[in-house]
Amino acid sequence: MITLPLLILMVVVLFFFCRWFLGIGVGAPFVPLHHRDVEDGINLAQVTANDVVVDLGSGDGRILIAAAKRGATVIGYEINPLLVWWSRFRLRRFKNRTHIYCGNLLQADLSQASVIFIFGLGPIMPRVVELIRPHAHPRLRVVSFAFSLPGVPLLAQKGIAKLYDFKIHDSSSVGVDG
Ligand SMILES: C[S@@+](CC[C@H](N)C(=O)[O-])C[C@H]1O[C@@H](n2cnc3c(N)ncnc32)[C@H](O)[C@@H]1O
Repeated sequence: MITLPLLILMVVVLFFFCRWFLGIGVGAPFVPLHHRDVEDGINLAQVTANDVVVDLGSGDGRILIAAAKRGATVIGYEINPLLVWWSRFRLRRFKNRTHIYCGNLLQADLSQASVIFIFGLGPIMPRVVELIRPHAHPRLRVVSFAFSLPGVPLLAQKGIAKLYDFKIHDSSSVGVDG
């Protein structure tokens, strides 16, 4: 027989399962990139040791690891605490230049970013664009995987990795994506 406490526990577990693993009500479910796609993104953004790389929805940290291997300082925002814990563990050898925050990517501090990665679903993208715009600067490279950043000019694409140009804000420009 299902008692009330058990029912409440089941509802709570279901809520967090839907939120953390199916991505319902957040930006995207946890669907990790293939190694090939990670490399495409890192190469497209030309990540070097001079960069501060932010991954918005950093999952198990695979993009952060690839960027850290190139010497970059890496910052992740991830809503799933289990993935935060696991990615911190995976990046332990880069501990002195790794910061992984457990929280909503829409509250990310992008003031230090020179490279931003995002692999989120379409509905969150307009808000991601508005989050990034105030931090646009000439060296900023923004790569979105699979999904477009609406109203932002597409500079280049490699596989599913798309490099966007935040220097031009005129959405009537030729090549605007989304
Ligand atoms: C498609 S996965 C990408 C994971 C990793 N960046 C990669 O490329 O392999 C999206 C990740 O974003 C996280 N996420 C979704 N919505 C989020 C939000 N609002 N704030 C922070 N993280 C979020 C999910 O938990 C998931 O780990």
